[in-house]
Amino acid sequence: MDNHSQDMVEFGPQTHVLVTGGAGFVGSALVDLLIARNCSVTVIDDLSNGLLSNLPTDHPHLTILTFRVGDPAFNATVHDEVGRADAVFHLASPIGVELAHKERFAVTSGILESGCAIVEACRFHRRPLLYTSSSEVYGSGRDRPITEADPVMTDLRPRWGYAAAKAAVEHLVAGLFFDLGIPTWIVRPFNMAGPRQRSATGLVLPVFVNAALRGEPLVVHDDGEQRRAFLHVADAAEGLLMVMQSRCLRGRPVNLGGSEAVQIGNLAKMVVETAKTSAPIVMKPSNAVYGERFAVTYDRVPDTSLLTTMTGWRALRSTRQTIADCIEYIRTERAMA
Ligand SMILES: NC(=O)c1ccc[n+]([C@@H]2O[C@H](COP(=O)([O-])OP(=O)(O)OC[C@H]3O[C@@H](n4cnc5c(N)ncnc54)[C@H](O)[C@@H]3O)[C@@H](O)[C@H]2O)c1
Repeated sequence: MDNHSQDMVEFGPQTHVLVTGGAGFVGSALVDLLIARNCSVTVIDDLSNGLLSNLPTDHPHLTILTFRVGDPAFNATVHDEVGRADAVFHLASPIGVELAHKERFAVTSGILESGCAIVEACRFHRRPLLYTSSSEVYGSGRDRPITEADPVMTDLRPRWGYAAAKAAVEHLVAGLFFDLGIPTWIVRPFNMAGPRQRSATGLVLPVFVNAALRGEPLVVHDDGEQRRAFLHVADAAEGLLMVMQSRCLRGRPVNLGGSEAVQIGNLAKMVVETAKTSAPIVMKPSNAVYGERFAVTYDRVPDTSLLTTMTGWRALRSTRQTIADCIEYIRTERAMA
């Protein structure tokens, strides 16, 4: 089957899919799903945060290319790979609030450069593109579930360079659809968690798990009452596939996240309980960790009714299971190190 002239993508044995960032946490879960559907897959990942060990490297339907999307020296290769693909998932991105806050220039330019390279190749070859943006575009958060109609909010504090760059690429991706008729999808993930997420990126759940397993303090910022909702990575990967098969969702931003709101202080307690350790929980002001210019986020919980209504998607795994799977993964990694 040649998907190229079609509006929609079927994920099956004849489909060739390009996944940027495919050696990362979410990308590798997506690759697992695509291979289980007998798609052939090409991953491009610069291994800045991904690991080859996340992928079935010797699978006959998987090709892995290791370079930075956005590096001009590889733009021709990106062009060729997009041209060969029936569908493109662009997940490659620097991640983590800590990195965004401390290395604004590299993070902002990295998102823009890779976004422009992929968008340009998809424009040229008219390929369907799903782009993972971020809930960071909603800024400091709301005291109610956030819908896609909520405004994108950033200012010039360093943390928001990531969000502003994600939002700028959203415009390019939306423009491909609304101005040029190329099918595209924009997903705004909230907190995703589970196996293969690395604590080095500073994301809260693996950081807590890592501390708990070492018997070190779990550091909760500010009053610990800020709420988040965690989505298991396997549910997230299913969600990405379902979004890209929905006609109604083309060109529109779609929230992807969990629905069980949990306060971060309670998350720390759940991790200690589940890991069965006696690690202490300590509270610290976030500006003592990041400095005065840090932009604090309060509640950030998604309203995912658009995704559920349009595709039937639901998260199948609870927060407890997500925590347990995260502990299991980090425990196994530590045992093997
Ligand atoms: N994990 C979350 O909770 C979360 C929340 C919001 C948005 N997102 C978005 O979802 C996507 C996947 O995130 P993740 O958690 O899997 O992160 P990740 O760091 O595990 O995966 C990203 C991958 O991209 C690679 N990469 C980075 N820049 C690259 C480049 N220019 N060229 C090639 N490879 C590059 C990294 O090596 C890594 O393997 C990202 O776009 C991220 O911004 C994630």
